[in-house]
Amino acid sequence: MVSRGHIDLTKPSAGRIQDHLLGGTHNFEIDRLMASRLKKIAPIMMENVFAQRDLLGRGVTYFVRELGLKQIIDFGSSLPTCNNTHQVAHAIDPSVRIIYSDIDLLTVRYSREILVNVANVHYLWCDAAQPETVLGSVEAKEFFGDDHRVGICFTLLAHFMKSVDLKHAARTLYEWADPGSHMIVLSMGGSEWLSDPILQEILAQNEKMGIDLKLRNLDELLSMFAPWEVTEHGVANNYSWGLPPDAPRSHRPTRAWSFMLHKK
Ligand SMILES: C[S@@+](CC[C@H](N)C(=O)[O-])C[C@H]1O[C@@H](n2cnc3c(N)ncnc32)[C@H](O)[C@@H]1O
Repeated sequence: MVSRGHIDLTKPSAGRIQDHLLGGTHNFEIDRLMASRLKKIAPIMMENVFAQRDLLGRGVTYFVRELGLKQIIDFGSSLPTCNNTHQVAHAIDPSVRIIYSDIDLLTVRYSREILVNVANVHYLWCDAAQPETVLGSVEAKEFFGDDHRVGICFTLLAHFMKSVDLKHAARTLYEWADPGSHMIVLSMGGSEWLSDPILQEILAQNEKMGIDLKLRNLDELLSMFAPWEVTEHGVANNYSWGLPPDAPRSHRPTRAWSFMLHKK
């Protein structure tokens, strides 16, 4: 677990790299350098970064419009700058209460500045390996009380986490959540991709910058989230969960999976 007091500006942060790729301004030279290295190795990253955000938006829309959920917890949230959870949820129902969280202290600090005038939102520091930090917080008590029927966002996070931590997080959330709770998951991975030289290069670049990605095959990934169950929508390749049946689909090799989980 990373201590709360430490901000390391010599390392890029996944959230600030993503912010830069999405056109945001909350990032440093070290993040832009890493982003440009990754873009050179895998130009598809630009396309991906918008597709990822759209996927998150479809998950949140499903929570609020289809399921009528009034409470959302978002882990590894990054910066709430571009079409993020609260914007999507509040466009449908401004009364939805959202708790964002991230392990990166600067991200938390910046995000609080961005959200200063936004109602029904808190942004907490939390290592997703210990979701208890959010679940036991004063803010969770204030927003949710004893009603634990929630939508959980767990997008682009699992591949940053060790298996033991991910399993603990999933089980803790399951035990805390009320039946009817749902969780949208997007994670990098894919059996075909694991031997791809481009991936090896991406992993090597990340490792140099201190980011240790854990890529899993689908069975392994799903097993991490037990006892949550995949909804009737099934598992989608890449970022395509929730796309309408007639939407154009990418035929690119699987480099990520997206799925909705629920507690019955
Ligand atoms: C690529 S961004 C994903 C942002 C957002 N969830 C999305 O789908 O667009 C990954 C975020 O996860 C955060 N992160 C990485 N490991 C984490 C952990 N163990 N706990 C909480 N956040 C973590 C990073 O700081 C970063 O902000």
